[in-house]
Amino acid sequence: MDKYTETSEYIARRIADAGKDMPRVAVVLGSGLGKLGDMIADPLIIPYSEIPNFKASTAVGHKGNLIVGTLGGKTMLAMQGRFHYYEGYTMQEVTFPVRVFATLGICTLFVSNAAGAINPEYKVGDLMVITDHINLMPNPLIGPNNEKFGPRFPDMTEVYSPRLRCSADRHASVLGISLRHGVYVAGTGPTYETPAEYRFYRAIGGDACGMSTVPEVIVARHSGMEVFGISVVTNQANDLKSGAVNDGDDVVRQADAAADRMTALIERMIHEI
Ligand code: HPA
Repeated sequence: MDKYTETSEYIARRIADAGKDMPRVAVVLGSGLGKLGDMIADPLIIPYSEIPNFKASTAVGHKGNLIVGTLGGKTMLAMQGRFHYYEGYTMQEVTFPVRVFATLGICTLFVSNAAGAINPEYKVGDLMVITDHINLMPNPLIGPNNEKFGPRFPDMTEVYSPRLRCSADRHASVLGISLRHGVYVAGTGPTYETPAEYRFYRAIGGDACGMSTVPEVIVARHSGMEVFGISVVTNQANDLKSGAVNDGDDVVRQADAAADRMTALIERMIHEI
């Protein structure tokens, strides 16, 4: 039995033992955005430490729980805390949970993150719907292709579901939340960018940048999941001339402050799925 099967069978058994339906939607909660996990009704909380083949989540603002429960009236699964490449995990380890989700039959993946604004119009606290990405990290699909999950050369022309981006716009306008739409640039971290790197990211077409999300999204698209990505702008990466510095604790604080808006939006979107 491969590791994906072993882990997904363990999770499926825990879900069945708790008398819950199998979720079809999963959410990956980024830095400081674990709050959504606390809003899930009737939760089954499985610490990563109990799940075979799962790693520990070591990043600030990442709790390390898999939660199965109800949000927006639907059974869903949330990862409260993700694995980052900068923590020293391999790309296969970073994206392992997404392969497990595919094995479990998850069809739709929501991914969230804290990000630095590169677009000079963006402000701290803004929510940005990810329309596309630029990957400056190693590609998680490098290596032998596992045909069970998807093709050798996956198409990446429409990574972030137009249908779900439309749904986000509709619900945001009902909620009175304003949304940005932009391109997410993924670097490895753990260093924040130098001013020259931020200028480079802007020049190549980025609106916000971070150290996560893209590996999981690539693996999710490889296995045919529909993907929605959202960034919370936690720092103005374009404004380093003002003497501002980037600080990890501040990033988590700013993400926490925006988490209620993001949660309200995702809850309505899940309800509609
Ligand atoms: N750069 C990279 N990752 C980040 C940033 C940033 O400015 N802010 C939050 N995550």
